[in-house]
Amino acid sequence: MRRLGYTEDVPTSTIVILDFGSQYTQLIARRIREFNVFSVVLPCTVGLDQVRALAPAGIILSGGPSSVYDADAPAADTEVLELNIPVLGICYGLQFMVHHLGGTVESAARREYGHAQVEIVRETKLFRGLEGELDVWMSHGDEAKILPEGFVLTAQTPNALAGIANEERRMWAVQFHPEVAHTRQGTELLKNFALDICAAEPNWTPEHFIQATIERVRAQVGETGHAICGLSGGVDSSVAAVLVARAIGNRLTCIFVNNGVLRKNEFAKVQRTMRESLGLTVVAVDAGERFLAKLSGITDPEQKRKVIGNEFIAVFDDEARAIFEAEKSAGEEIAWLVQGTLYPDVIESSSVHGPSHTIKSHHNVGGLPADMKLKLIEPLRDLFKDEVRRIGRDLGMPAEIIERQPFPGPGLAVRILGEVTAERVAMLQEADAIVVEEIKAAGLYSRVWQSFAVLLPVKSVGVMGDQRTYANACAIRAVESEDGMTADWAALPEAVLRRISSRIVGEVRGINRVVYDITSKPPGTIEWE
Ligand code: XMP
Repeated sequence: MRRLGYTEDVPTSTIVILDFGSQYTQLIARRIREFNVFSVVLPCTVGLDQVRALAPAGIILSGGPSSVYDADAPAADTEVLELNIPVLGICYGLQFMVHHLGGTVESAARREYGHAQVEIVRETKLFRGLEGELDVWMSHGDEAKILPEGFVLTAQTPNALAGIANEERRMWAVQFHPEVAHTRQGTELLKNFALDICAAEPNWTPEHFIQATIERVRAQVGETGHAICGLSGGVDSSVAAVLVARAIGNRLTCIFVNNGVLRKNEFAKVQRTMRESLGLTVVAVDAGERFLAKLSGITDPEQKRKVIGNEFIAVFDDEARAIFEAEKSAGEEIAWLVQGTLYPDVIESSSVHGPSHTIKSHHNVGGLPADMKLKLIEPLRDLFKDEVRRIGRDLGMPAEIIERQPFPGPGLAVRILGEVTAERVAMLQEADAIVVEEIKAAGLYSRVWQSFAVLLPVKSVGVMGDQRTYANACAIRAVESEDGMTADWAALPEAVLRRISSRIVGEVRGINRVVYDITSKPPGTIEWE
């Protein structure tokens, strides 16, 4: 399938990150991009031709969980070390360099994990401007013992080597992780590498991306081509739609489906914003009853997801086909489908862990009629979430969309434990609206990753006025997270919790008890189902 992306013609100043499987690899790319330098993550096994084709200004070898001396250790083509392009090795990347350039790496007598103090013992371009001792984040069980010829020690901890360099060959490496927030001055170190050592041009700016994407979409779709796009109301699909609409105007038709488990007033609100503020052409399909009928009697979380997913595809297909037929009889034809796929999914689907980590099912609309032969436009497939927000802001999109917390595709259905009924949806919509309102009023909405209410399948006794009540319990969940993969429960101010609780019990008929979820992820998940 032909895919529209941006990277295909990025000319210069790219930093290539070869991924050896570290959980922090994506973070390296994000940090580099914060300096407006474009960076891509490629699996370490990528062919040398592909690396060369990008004409990288620099190469970073990531960390990874393996030992370089293991038989099945992930390895890159060692020719990447011979390209006369600056190379920075991080953790496993350092060990890979040492191992393949004639030094030795062994299991360390003392594993280093967590905070460490690093002393710079030799001036290098990499450490220029860094002051005093470095507070760094370590995570390794192996260490370099004998350095390859031409390499010198540049930094050390009380236990072990922490940095090496061969400036003549333009190679630097650190045993710690400069990309993680725990490493103070890590950003400066990466900046030294990208901007000074590699002399990468900081031309990866929102304006540049927007302009290039619009031109590219215009060229691909042509003067007469038509496209459709499924809107969820969330930031990704909205930004994707706005970008494509900037390129082809009202030849983009957006489809927005009410699946019956949206938030309070969301169906009307999203339509209004999309049409009035963003000028998009939107076909809104109110299929709430159809979804709720299908959900009747279902309590299993995965079953709920399946039902909603399948029903969504059925509704979307019907609408897409109707638009397709209408266009066809008007002598036009829809040839493109816009999707809001993000870079982490792209990386994941080609990661060193293998293709088993394929793109998450909710990113595939799937099942579209084969005769429509739609080609994909994925204008965000080179972006991280925070970059999508930046682009959205630069496109002049309203904060209510850009700052929106993630909301799962199956919506409130996975926050109503037990059966999903119209009555329970309405109850949770009210409770949820109060949570959002209070979190926003306290100025916490963009500071927490997600904050919401969950309706429990539990009734308990209460007392209101002089009356005994026997009604539903609801849980409040608020978490802090970088990417949704791990999360800490948020210690919301007591006053905010107090207000949320008393408002829900006072205002939402059917709920008489509110509890607060204090489970982090792992071991919990963010959603309850
Ligand atoms: P969990 O609950 O797995 O959630 O910790 C991680 C992130 O993913 C969102 N989520 C979903 N998003 N379809 C989606 O589009 C789903 O089925 C789904 N389940 C969870 C969740 O809200 C959180 O941001």
